[in-house]
Amino acid sequence: MARIPDAFIDDLLSRSDIVEVIGARVPLKRQGKEYSARCPFHDERSPSFTVSPTKQFYHCFGCGAHGTAISFLMNYDRLEFLDAVEELAKRVGIEVPRDTLQRNANPDSLDLYSAMEAAAKFFRKQLAQDGRALGYFDSRGVDADTRERFALGYAPDSFNALRDALGTDPRRMKLLERGGMFSKNDRGHVYDKFRDRVMFPILDRRGRTIAFGGRVLGASKDGKDAGPKYLNSPETELFHKGRELYGLWQVRQAHNKIPRLIVVEGYMDVIALFQNGVDTAVATLGTATTPDHAELLFRNAPDVFFCFDGDRAGRGAAWKAVESVLPRMKDGRQAFFLFLPDGEDPDSLVRKEGREGFDARLQQATPLSQFFFDSLSTDVNLGTLEGRGRLAERAKPLLAQIPDGAFGDLMKQRLTELTGVGARPAPTETQAASQRARAGATAGPATKPSLVRSAITVLLQQPGVALALPSSLHFASLDQPGVGLLVELIELVHQRPDISTGLILEHFGDRSEAAALTKLATARAVETTAATPLDSRVLDDADKRQQTFLDAISRLEAQAIQQRIDILQPRLSTLDEAEKHELRELLSLLRPSRRQ
Ligand code: UTP
Ligand code: MN
Repeated sequence: MARIPDAFIDDLLSRSDIVEVIGARVPLKRQGKEYSARCPFHDERSPSFTVSPTKQFYHCFGCGAHGTAISFLMNYDRLEFLDAVEELAKRVGIEVPRDTLQRNANPDSLDLYSAMEAAAKFFRKQLAQDGRALGYFDSRGVDADTRERFALGYAPDSFNALRDALGTDPRRMKLLERGGMFSKNDRGHVYDKFRDRVMFPILDRRGRTIAFGGRVLGASKDGKDAGPKYLNSPETELFHKGRELYGLWQVRQAHNKIPRLIVVEGYMDVIALFQNGVDTAVATLGTATTPDHAELLFRNAPDVFFCFDGDRAGRGAAWKAVESVLPRMKDGRQAFFLFLPDGEDPDSLVRKEGREGFDARLQQATPLSQFFFDSLSTDVNLGTLEGRGRLAERAKPLLAQIPDGAFGDLMKQRLTELTGVGARPAPTETQAASQRARAGATAGPATKPSLVRSAITVLLQQPGVALALPSSLHFASLDQPGVGLLVELIELVHQRPDISTGLILEHFGDRSEAAALTKLATARAVETTAATPLDSRVLDDADKRQQTFLDAISRLEAQAIQQRIDILQPRLSTLDEAEKHELRELLSLLRPSRRQ
């Protein structure tokens, strides 16, 4: 899939003014160098949402929402990445490189969308004319309004109805093939994939038809091979089932601000819920809840309810959802699990109990926290040390994925209550202590344990500082927490000299370091080291920070060099020529910085 080059994004963001972009949507108040507002992504009374024009990013101290102008548009206007990029590019009057635009602007894809639309229209027309298919929807209580809203249709009982109707133009025939509307037999003969099925068009986030689900009429017939009960379009360039949610378009049409989303398994569940007044349901398309789904769900609503069968399979599927959701549990987001009684699905329940009954069940849903600890404890005896140990072992790596915030803290606290074991692995402290001791031994009392941290902080807040560094550095070999990350950040800035704070954070996306980096990036003040030889009064803030950064790096360098010297020197008599040369170099490097 074509990608937009990073350099273009960097350039686009450096030309855009995030204050202007956000200010057009949220009333911003100036506060010193930054702007603040009540957070548009969670309910709050006092403003904890800030926009920084220098860092070109926004951050909410309440719910943790943060990002660039691009991610703001994605989250606030609910745009796709490419659409957000286009929107921004339009504002600043530059053009998105043509060959990197994927399906959106690709004229070929535009045709593909219209071919899929034509197929949907064909199926709708067939439904209107087919008594049996209409009778089927009647028998399931789907009214005319709902058929219209979900653009339901019928694929005739024929191997070439669609083909004959739309495939007469060879170009369109090709497009429909690309859209997954045909099957091919051994002899290469192409025929309609969907036959004698009621049709459920799957729409993307802009309401365009990208795929279909088709259901046999009535119960699956034994004997006559009608195939699976539901047949879905294959994965195509438009359709990736792990990224789509059936019904999301309709939910978004019905709400300005979606209070909660209900995730169900079936097409008919979404439709029946909607018709009965529960108009915030979406379905995963015959797959487990993927991380992409989880992201999409929370981007659209703060509360997500997952409905599953109460049986083993249902609980297994619910656990999959837990795994996808945990890394996205920023503060302000909530997930719940609703297990249905035996033999029922949301469709049957809402018909029996109505909207009130279904709402009442949602009220009783199990919170993620409870389902999490219940599931992990099922085969564990918490009355024994061994059992508590096992629970702690299982929970820790999962809890580590929760973004920093109150929810994560509470979950870790709960684990401690249940097991008596703190969720933070104990070795970290001792490792850190021994590292401090080691660093102290090699580089003397001037060494602070927070050099890496302060370097990362400055770099995040003012990425340009890294450009002043030489390309070859020794400190990468140091065994200290965060060194790898610091090296990576420096390389990133060297590759993308225009990169902003917000983009660096975005670059780390879902990685485990992201939360910690966000914290450092938003730390209100960077302590600048006093030990600079220059008079601090003549330096402005930016210069001071750069000085602090370079100072930290050169101390780390000194440590690394000293460490290597300590390895080589005791073996002096046995060193080969290359090693002797290296030692001389290292000693000469170290001399100037020893003056302090
Ligand atoms: P279910 O078999 O639970 O059926 O499939 P349902 O949704 O209750 O369907 P009705 O009420 O009998 O019409 C749940 C979902 O799993 C996928 C479909 O997305 C379906 O909506 N599925 C099911 C398939 O993809 N293929 C199948 O053969 C069956
Ligand atoms: Mn059903």
